[in-house]
Amino acid sequence: MNFTDELVQWYLNNKRDLPWRNTTDPYVIWLSEIILQQTRVEQGMPYFYRFLEKYPNVSSFAAAHEDEILKLWQGLGYYSRGRNMLKTAQLVQELHSGRFPDSYDELIKLKGIGEYTAAAIASFAANEAKAVVDGNVYRVLARYLGIYEPINSTGGKKTFQKVADDFLNKKFPGLHNQAMMEFGAMLCKPKNPNCGICPIRAGCVAFKTNAVATLPVKLKT
Ligand code: ADE
Repeated sequence: MNFTDELVQWYLNNKRDLPWRNTTDPYVIWLSEIILQQTRVEQGMPYFYRFLEKYPNVSSFAAAHEDEILKLWQGLGYYSRGRNMLKTAQLVQELHSGRFPDSYDELIKLKGIGEYTAAAIASFAANEAKAVVDGNVYRVLARYLGIYEPINSTGGKKTFQKVADDFLNKKFPGLHNQAMMEFGAMLCKPKNPNCGICPIRAGCVAFKTNAVATLPVKLKT
């Protein structure tokens, strides 16, 4: 099996059952991705449920008052996320009459939605062939391919996006993206990765050259 087939196989056998993985509703996926941006899954989960219960669709979110949203956001930190969400929801309401877009090109036009979030929503909701690149993906690719370019340099970002696009499973982009992130979060972890049970270590440059602890390279800023 090749890299992405191995990863997807691993994912299907090992994935956590997370609520935002059982939907193709772009609004619900958006909600989860913004909450999870600077927040761990276990911490974000109750917030995700609370938000979804109070605002089951983007129209109800757009009609909310900012102080209601910030109150619900309490404890999550980075309150600008909550404020920006309201602006994005209002924009979706205005431009798309409350139908949350699920194509990359429409999503990226919305203020508050960057490349990562647009790719996540488009691939999870509509299976669009866009590779997500987050911290997990940087780590998995840097180690597997032995890429020493810093992940936070301009050139490095380009390199990793290109490699991620090349590796993307074009038939199952959503599944592939989830698999990459889950693999990075659960097995190819920043510290103490579980190389002993890794299904792709035979092809992993970092494993073979004893560089797992060195990669990925990040410039001090
Ligand atoms: N962190 C960010 N997005 C995630 C997702 N879709 N599943 C699990 N963890 C995540």
